[in-house]
Amino acid sequence: MQSAFAPKASSLSLLLLFVALVPPSSPAQARPVPNPQLASKEVNARTESLLKKMTLEEKIGQLVQYSAGFATGPAASNLTYDDLVAKGQVGSMLNVVGAEKTNHYQHIAMEKSRLHIPILFGLDVIHGDHTTFPIPLAVAASWDPQAAETVARSGAVEARADGIDWVFSPMVDIARDPRWGRIVESNGEDPYLSSVMARAWVKGYQQGDLSKLDSVAACVKHFAAYGAAIAGRDYNATDMSEQTLRQVYLPPYHAAVEAGVATVMSSFNSINGIPATANPLILTQILRREWGFDGLVVSDWGAVGELKNHSIGDGPTVARKSLEAGVDMDMEGNLFGTTISSQVRSGKIPESVVDEAARRILRVKFALGLFDHPYTDSSPVYEATPERRAVARKVADETIVLLKNDPVEGVGALLPLTAKAKKIALIGPLADDARDLLGAWSAGDPKNVITLKQELTDRLGDRLTYAVGCGALAGEDEKILERVTFGGSVAGSSPQAAADDEKSIAEAVEIARQSDVAILALGEPANWMEGEASSRVHLGFTGNQEKLLEAVVATGKPVILVVLAGRPLELKWAAEHVSAILEAWSPGIEAGPSVADVLFGDVNPSGKLPSSFPRAVGQEPLYYAQLPTGRPAHVDLTHMPTNSEEKFVSRYVDEQNSALFPFGWGLSYTRFSYAKPTLSRTEIPLQEVLADRGAVTTVSIDVTNTGRVAGTEVVQLYIRNTEASVEQPVRELKGFARVELAPGETKHLTFPLGFDELSFYNVDVKRTVEPTTYDVWVGGSSLADQKTDLKIVE
Ligand code: NOJ
Repeated sequence: MQSAFAPKASSLSLLLLFVALVPPSSPAQARPVPNPQLASKEVNARTESLLKKMTLEEKIGQLVQYSAGFATGPAASNLTYDDLVAKGQVGSMLNVVGAEKTNHYQHIAMEKSRLHIPILFGLDVIHGDHTTFPIPLAVAASWDPQAAETVARSGAVEARADGIDWVFSPMVDIARDPRWGRIVESNGEDPYLSSVMARAWVKGYQQGDLSKLDSVAACVKHFAAYGAAIAGRDYNATDMSEQTLRQVYLPPYHAAVEAGVATVMSSFNSINGIPATANPLILTQILRREWGFDGLVVSDWGAVGELKNHSIGDGPTVARKSLEAGVDMDMEGNLFGTTISSQVRSGKIPESVVDEAARRILRVKFALGLFDHPYTDSSPVYEATPERRAVARKVADETIVLLKNDPVEGVGALLPLTAKAKKIALIGPLADDARDLLGAWSAGDPKNVITLKQELTDRLGDRLTYAVGCGALAGEDEKILERVTFGGSVAGSSPQAAADDEKSIAEAVEIARQSDVAILALGEPANWMEGEASSRVHLGFTGNQEKLLEAVVATGKPVILVVLAGRPLELKWAAEHVSAILEAWSPGIEAGPSVADVLFGDVNPSGKLPSSFPRAVGQEPLYYAQLPTGRPAHVDLTHMPTNSEEKFVSRYVDEQNSALFPFGWGLSYTRFSYAKPTLSRTEIPLQEVLADRGAVTTVSIDVTNTGRVAGTEVVQLYIRNTEASVEQPVRELKGFARVELAPGETKHLTFPLGFDELSFYNVDVKRTVEPTTYDVWVGGSSLADQKTDLKIVE
């Protein structure tokens, strides 16, 4: 939708002035109501009546959140929480899990605090809870919003049973640089795909009704542009034009807000010099005025205090700046609770600012029904039942991406495996590493994981031999275990350590020699190398895994590589020497069964990459939707610069420009063919598009399964605006659909195009459409080559 407010170019200072001049309670104009429950008469009446009874200290108490359990950041506070809760000085807690523990604090809040205001309990439920599903990046690889909704629903139900009513998910930061460890929690590089997934996650958590006893409040994070950390280093600054911010980075958060997300978490990074946690443009102007967000904003862990390191003031100053910018709740910062009251009393902060923050928090508590149902029945003992496993497996099956499946001379394609492969060697430190197969940020119990080794042993019996091959970490990687402390304690020992890698590699080579085919399960161990504070400058397999791969390939035996990782790894050597490669990410509790489903062809792979895989780390940040240059290296069919013989062009002299495996890429055990796309209308008057009344034309495409087995294809629609007042990317995804096709079957698909898809931010940072021609492609990846044109005329 068109922005309600269109700031002028280079107008950040004017904007800040504007934000300062318009008091938060007087919206610039009539706004949409993304979550009607938060704006409902009843919720507002109850909130206002309670607010009237509250002292300043009690209102400030609502703005305070403590971690009273384990630490998910540095230096957790260690206070007497019972006492603070009894005094009404705590509004929310995180990392307190289980009915017994949450009820303990809730009883104090409900029975001992003066106004009986319930505590809101939050937790990082990132890819399911006890039933751990594949990591979010993998879920995005399914290109199936229903899968995301399923994961969120399962996480909500299990979290709620543990006394949690607020989950810090979905994370929808656009991540275009896999050096950044948190790409694992994201939907990858694309704003359109990420927006679709964002809506689905929110729907799964909140069900459109926060008051349901198995709904939780979702929290879209990290607002904003955390994924654009310079050089992929976690917590680093971001710096970009406002056009890029609005066109690329903001849409997924906006999609979550439009889907009714109840809460937002501000990010650690600064954006164009202003830290997000004290950024009125982001937190007030865009989030609340333009998007109409009525829920609460929580800071990230300790981020309010860390504003001091951003050099924007001392403790009281940064607390004030953060609160006034639009942060309502201070997560583990202990600054709102200690510095706001005196500043209100001295007149430095208007009390109305505190009222507004408390109001937003109370509205969420009322909408969740916490005042009416503050307690949780005793937490059921979790069991990974066959039903739960089946749901996790179905999702995991959809997330696996077949990167390569070239025929081997005299053998044919290695995948799916057939009975011809009588003896199979399984090799690699991640094949039997339950903890790492769960993935980063997982609450699941490794005991519930079926590893690849367990599953293949079940299926193959003594046809299978196994060797660990090497440790998952070695040398410099392994030093991280000594170097890094997590919440004060040392990280721990290396996962799946092999005492002597040389010896283990020799053993692996030996079992490969005695087999018909070797399956190598390699990647990076999730617990030490992925997620928060886990940026990497090397994107290869960790430890000696690449050496192991080279040694096994050198036997001449056919090799199938199963990659287990939370980010795109550098797979160049593997892609040149291995015929079959599956990207299986971190698959969760059904790791073994889902990978085996694809290996044996019980499931035809249908995943597609949500992130470009580089040839070399030096290409990063690498993404398909690049802006054009004046000296393109060579514009091929796909408008992607590739290698070129010319010198003075935009290229690397030592590597190709293009991705090794591009965005949207993923093979199948069948083949799909695409007819030329057609448009219901090929020329549209500009005014009609600008009127923003939905689709102005429809793209139609016939897709056929030309192979011998049934398969699911993710049909992708890309456009390029070929002439605009502000440069537009060489391609942008604007639609997709998963479609199941029987052998020989053709399906006819249609995609709408309207203002939403065709617009961009012009030099005045106003979303608009101009007379132009759009290239329109449809196909099975960002290399789609079936094309038509759409003209927008005066
Ligand atoms: C810091 C992380 O950035 C955030 O994603 C998480 O929700 C909080 N810690 C709470 O654990």
